[in-house]
Amino acid sequence: MNPVLVVHGGAWAMPDDMVEAHINGVRNAIAAGWKVLERGGSVLDAVEASVVIMEDDETFDAGRGSFLNRDGKVQLDALIMDGATLRAGGVGCVERLPNPVRAARKILSESPHVYFVGEGAERFAAEHGCELCRNEDLIIPREVEHLRRYQQELGQREKAQSDSAPDGNNLFAPAVSHDTVGAVALDRNGNIAAATSTGGTLNKAPGRLGDSSLIGCGCYANNESAAVSTTGWGEPIMKLVLAKWTADRVAAGNLPEWAAQEAMNYLKQRVNGHGGIIVLDAQGQFGIAHNTPRMAWGLKTVKTEEAGVERNTI
Ligand code: GLY
Repeated sequence: MNPVLVVHGGAWAMPDDMVEAHINGVRNAIAAGWKVLERGGSVLDAVEASVVIMEDDETFDAGRGSFLNRDGKVQLDALIMDGATLRAGGVGCVERLPNPVRAARKILSESPHVYFVGEGAERFAAEHGCELCRNEDLIIPREVEHLRRYQQELGQREKAQSDSAPDGNNLFAPAVSHDTVGAVALDRNGNIAAATSTGGTLNKAPGRLGDSSLIGCGCYANNESAAVSTTGWGEPIMKLVLAKWTADRVAAGNLPEWAAQEAMNYLKQRVNGHGGIIVLDAQGQFGIAHNTPRMAWGLKTVKTEEAGVERNTI
């Protein structure tokens, strides 16, 4: 098989002055993953390498530079899944891992379990050679200011609407960044895999887990259907188990391109959700779609390399 790699880096109303950083970020992620694929490396190594690059890039809501939760801390979630064996590794609500996807990979490869959260996840990661850091090391001034402004605006809005219940939809309008990152790939052996990593939503309650690290919600891979990674507002995506929903459409004989767009229609129409998705099948056919104004994406095949912030917008 000829390898294929597709990555995303967030779906939202990205302003013009952030476009270049996002495109550079997804291009760097493509370069890292492709290096693995072109030397005949495994698809899991490729998606992990791509996601690590974006976790290390402060542009994105993953790893260092992620959104802060209500307490001013970074809490990260990640999942990686192997389409050949259906093995998966996930971490949730980790606070001391600069690269949660590396810990997720260790769980996939070296644990009988699939999912670790919080301190247990960090302990497992450290015991298996992953680097730990302080939570402060993951926090950047941009995000401290971002949280301060958000909480101030929220306080003012709640005061103005003190007689009515807060509207969760308004709190996460598409204008608010969702820079969750992800990658899907096909290797020379015909195997596909997916990985997704996130800092979740701005001002989230401590302990809140989004879609990204849940199998079938923010990430899924099965050689018999598709590899899928989503980005966007996690709660609606979780309710639809959207990654598995999309992979099932591919298994039913639909093209990944169609399935990706249908998933975005379904997300909007069924639960008023917003976000983006990348889909890849074991024949190398892919789809990229979003129902937000922009989504950072990149792709590489043996014939082409592209990156952008708009694709199949609905
Ligand atoms: N999609 C990321 C999150 O909602 O946590």
